[in-house]
Amino acid sequence: MKKKVVLSLLASAAMVVSLAACSSGSSSGSSTDGAAAGASGLIGVAMPTKSSERWIADGNSIKQQLESAGYTVDLEYAEDDIPTQVSQLENMITKGAKALIVASIDGTTLTNTLQNAKDNNIPVIAYDRLIRDSENVDYYATFDNEKVGTEQGTSLLTGLGILDASGKDTGVAGPFNIELFAGSPDDNNATFFFKGAMAVLQPYIDKGTLVVKSGQTDFNTVATLRWDPATAQSRMENILTSTYSDGTTKVNGILSPYDGISRGLISAVTSAGYTVGASFPIITGQDAELDSVKAINGGEQYSTIYKDTRELAKVAVAMASAVLEGKTPETNDDKTYDNGKKVVPAELLQPVVVTKGDIKKVLIDGGYYTDAQING
Ligand code: GAL
Repeated sequence: MKKKVVLSLLASAAMVVSLAACSSGSSSGSSTDGAAAGASGLIGVAMPTKSSERWIADGNSIKQQLESAGYTVDLEYAEDDIPTQVSQLENMITKGAKALIVASIDGTTLTNTLQNAKDNNIPVIAYDRLIRDSENVDYYATFDNEKVGTEQGTSLLTGLGILDASGKDTGVAGPFNIELFAGSPDDNNATFFFKGAMAVLQPYIDKGTLVVKSGQTDFNTVATLRWDPATAQSRMENILTSTYSDGTTKVNGILSPYDGISRGLISAVTSAGYTVGASFPIITGQDAELDSVKAINGGEQYSTIYKDTRELAKVAVAMASAVLEGKTPETNDDKTYDNGKKVVPAELLQPVVVTKGDIKKVLIDGGYYTDAQING
């Protein structure tokens, strides 16, 4: 009897050991998959539109990085339609998303949706564009947007020869005729870009080196709803007709806030008879979109502002993961981005100006594009 008890005790002890081995095996298995506690569940990613190549790159990078951390991802594009973006976000909430990463179309239209997210305990990361008028925006991953603007203004001055490569005033008197374009008035970034650019350009306008020949300088007049290239193109065509059609007056420079708009401007000036190599205007841009990098190579566009979407995705993914693990994400700006309800803690990355001479070093050597994509 005694012997039997000992044997059965031994047998159950062996079972406990083998069960423990089994469960420790399975838990170590899941942690090597990256799907251990914290890194699992659904994350909703809402992007504005596929009509601009940059958002496709952003969406792909975020998805890929979240998936390799162990999350599942619902990535949606709203084709710049506000109600579509709202319903995509509502769907993500219904499906039980644990966090939302949102690049808004109109930064002021998500207040009710984000209240719903809050009621369901879902943290929200604003991606590239600040979401306004809501307390329920937890963190903001973006670039230094005012700096983007100052870099755009500065590169317009450099392209015109008013500043030299080191940023020094060359003393050239001009006058140079310029025109101004800004981004979408419902995108918080657009005002930052324009403000940054005008801080650099205004002193030269004041002393007559630069002349905005059309007289159109006010943000609301120069803004381009939804960043639409066709809207910018037609405004430029109207300006060329109204202001530059006497046969001698030329537009020497155009402040453009975004590569898509720059492509619209290039079409407008090309149709009006401007040719590369013969007083083609200096045109700025932003996003280092492939077609625009090619245009820079070909001399139609002077510069762009490169914002590495892979790095921005990394910041947003790190923010979402930290919040879900109960940690505080890293931020480096806790004062600039007041959304009307709160100052949203932000992590700002640094933008990089790219002109023709920088394409190889910055974009090709940096692995953003291959040589064949640009030159092939
Ligand atoms: C802005 C963004 C720019 C550009 C623009 C148009 O919000 O910061 O980089 O992409 O939208 O898509």
